[in-house]
Amino acid sequence: MDVLHNKQVLCVEAINVPLAARGVDYSLTLPHVSYLRVGSLYPLQLLFQCLQKFHPSSTVRQIRLHIKSYSTNSTDPNKKGTMRAWQIHQYGGNEELTLSDSVTIPKIKDPRGILINIHAASINPIDCHMRAGYGSTAMNAIRQKTIFPTNGGEFPLILGRDFSGEVVETGRDVRKFQRGDEVWGTVFASKQGCLADYTIAQEHEISLKPSIITHTSASSIPYVACTVSAAFTEFGGLRENSLKDKRVLIYGGSGGIGTFAIQLMKAFGAEVATICSTDAVELVTSLGADVVIDYTKQDVRQELANMEKFDIILDSFGKEKTGYSMEFLKSSKCNDSKYITLKHPFLKNIDDYGIPVGLLRSLSDAAIDISLGLRKGISHRWAIYLPKGKALERYAKLVDDDQIIPVIDKVFQFEDVPSAFEKVEQGHARGQSQ
Ligand SMILES: NC(=O)c1ccc[n+]([C@@H]2O[C@H](COP(=O)([O-])OP(=O)(O)OC[C@H]3O[C@@H](n4cnc5c(N)ncnc54)[C@H](OP(=O)(O)O)[C@@H]3O)[C@@H](O)[C@H]2O)c1
Repeated sequence: MDVLHNKQVLCVEAINVPLAARGVDYSLTLPHVSYLRVGSLYPLQLLFQCLQKFHPSSTVRQIRLHIKSYSTNSTDPNKKGTMRAWQIHQYGGNEELTLSDSVTIPKIKDPRGILINIHAASINPIDCHMRAGYGSTAMNAIRQKTIFPTNGGEFPLILGRDFSGEVVETGRDVRKFQRGDEVWGTVFASKQGCLADYTIAQEHEISLKPSIITHTSASSIPYVACTVSAAFTEFGGLRENSLKDKRVLIYGGSGGIGTFAIQLMKAFGAEVATICSTDAVELVTSLGADVVIDYTKQDVRQELANMEKFDIILDSFGKEKTGYSMEFLKSSKCNDSKYITLKHPFLKNIDDYGIPVGLLRSLSDAAIDISLGLRKGISHRWAIYLPKGKALERYAKLVDDDQIIPVIDKVFQFEDVPSAFEKVEQGHARGQSQ
């Protein structure tokens, strides 16, 4: 079956063999189900039910599906119905990335789905981790809706989590967006990604993109923005207006997460200290960091010990590297200070032990972190990326008001995606690669 677009309909033609006809075939076009609207494709079961109802003596032998086009104002994304996409067919290194130009353009199956023509996408560390299989057990469980997922069904898998592009088609329940809207957003890790010409996102995963920046610049922001937003709000329990004058320490100020988090915290009125290496000091200062520690030249622990204590620490490296820093948070009986970490074993435990045991281990690991925090009078939180169209809407405004600028390390051509993976994998990012 070819790809379906707006206002095209799927023609269903049933060929049946009445028992009495002794092998003589004839075609029957069922009036009630011959034209099924795209996006509300009934299961074939319904067709069989109708056949039985109207022609109880018949035996369905074959059902032909074909597409009929009508005069339409749809933007036919691609007459061939295919697109380019970077896929992997198994987990592994960069050699697993293959570019195909004959991937079927995804179809909207969910009424809240939105088909987006991607103009630019960015590469995050998560893409390198996912390429290697990280998180695959949990993602397969979500795909298959089971706690004992099987492997392999996810391939070929398109990687890439954030993008900027244009709406081509919307599901029937989409209210906020229409064809032609310029949007930015993320696609959740259990779905096919956006290193492709087209992707399907859900209404809650996207917002209108900032108007003053290009798609290339815009695509550098959504994944890190949604992660930082989730870390501070859903997991950290903080609100925009509760951050004013708070002292925030951000590890890894020069990377994708850090460059966004510094700017967001400054936009919300916080006082920001960050840690980075020498060549990034100028960059993070220009983004608004009030205090910068160069970890290649300074003794970070000593420097932090000399400072006034912090209200919040955003840690993207994990306790092996940063565990000591809890002592630099303000301590209180109400555990108001927050140690929010993006590096924890939640998905790895599930990869290593399966869902039930992995979840139990994560619960126990998190409980140890929480109790460690409680003893020090702070609140210890694990955080993960969450899709957040609403937050992106807010951040688009901050970009348009020049309070947040995209920080782009290097731009690669679509054909050169493996080089972008290599770059991200080497670390030392200065903002995003796309
Ligand atoms: N849990 C989640 O859902 C989630 C979501 C997003 C990201 N993350 C994690 O968060 C981390 C950061 O993500 P990202 O997108 O910002 O990565 P990134 O763009 O690769 O940036 C990491 C930055 O950290 C710097 N760095 C390395 N060692 C450092 C140290 N000891 N002190 C200070 N800075 C150091 C690196 O620069 P130099 O080495 O040149 O100094 C680099 O700029 C990654 O580990 C990622 O996996 C987790």
